[in-house]
Amino acid sequence: MRFLTDSDVAELLDPVKVVDAVEKAYMLYSLGRVVMPVRSRVEARERGDILMMPCLVPEMNIFSIKLVTVYPGNIEKGLPTINATIVVLDAETGIPKIVAEARALTGLRTAAATAVSIKHLARKNFTKIGIIGTGYQARWQLRVTAANFPGTEFTVYDIDHRRMRDFVDEMGRHGFDVKPSSSAEELVRKSDVVITVTTSKTPVVHSNWVREGTHISAIGGYTPEMVEIDPRLTARSKLVVDSREAVKEEAGDVLKPIELGLMKFEDIYAEIGELVAGLKPGRTDEKEVTVFKSVGLAVQDAAASKILLDYLMTR
Ligand SMILES: NC(=O)c1ccc[n+]([C@@H]2O[C@H](COP(=O)([O-])OP(=O)(O)OC[C@H]3O[C@@H](n4cnc5c(N)ncnc54)[C@H](O)[C@@H]3O)[C@@H](O)[C@H]2O)c1
Repeated sequence: MRFLTDSDVAELLDPVKVVDAVEKAYMLYSLGRVVMPVRSRVEARERGDILMMPCLVPEMNIFSIKLVTVYPGNIEKGLPTINATIVVLDAETGIPKIVAEARALTGLRTAAATAVSIKHLARKNFTKIGIIGTGYQARWQLRVTAANFPGTEFTVYDIDHRRMRDFVDEMGRHGFDVKPSSSAEELVRKSDVVITVTTSKTPVVHSNWVREGTHISAIGGYTPEMVEIDPRLTARSKLVVDSREAVKEEAGDVLKPIELGLMKFEDIYAEIGELVAGLKPGRTDEKEVTVFKSVGLAVQDAAASKILLDYLMTR
């Protein structure tokens, strides 16, 4: 069995290949070809959550289980909000093959989710991506979307301006030209694609800021209490989710507009895997506003782990 650190994982997972892997994973999931119970969540008192995320993908001969903790208060202590470890097994024999730190893997496969949604839902000629929230995930959202959509202009905004400046400086040192924005409203009004990747419990994108044709990838919320998108916006958009089953349990961004009577659960247009499988078209109109709501699925981790496993098998 091999042990991989976050830096090993970051080196081995190519940001284009990981998007292909996550795209395929979404398809297999929506076609019912994976075994993936809704993750179990243990609330660690007021501090945060511990999530357990198993998934079997028979076609990839892989079983993975990720243990991830989300402690929103950590950031104030200079500690990561999210920490994770993954165990990857050969599904045929049950033999463990890899134990890996999974912060980078989580960042990569989550950014890959956004990239898959952009492929299927953004306007083909988009040029500007705005990212709201400049924490750990945002770094991967930038890296992965920049690698997959070269030539894109990036703007960012964070409620904590110091964190936003640090992000711009750090990513600038890595060669990314990123502009800070003075408000979320300014960013949204100027962007073709908006990525929300915050820990907010109240909307960071308001409906009247959003131009026709915008695509939004809502990544941050993973509990019924967390809402990043104005419920009126979700209700008027073409809404695509990663998993109907999971968002019913976990996504305030879907549950809140339903609770307010603005939409019904049946108004969810599709799972992203249905678009990948060609069961439904993605964007069909230059003017429609599209929202992709991801809560994060274990099948994304399994698919990213498969790349690591394949690489190690050849060494
Ligand atoms: N969908 C998925 O698959 C997936 C995967 C990983 C993480 N997440 C979620 O993404 C979120 C972000 O994770 P992270 O590791 O980057 O956290 P982080 O704490 O490193 O960063 C969050 C950032 O959001 C900013 N923020 C909070 N409220 C804001 C607001 N109202 N407006 C603008 N900025 C605001 C914070 O200042 C911080 O910089 C978490 O809620 C996490 O659970 C989702």
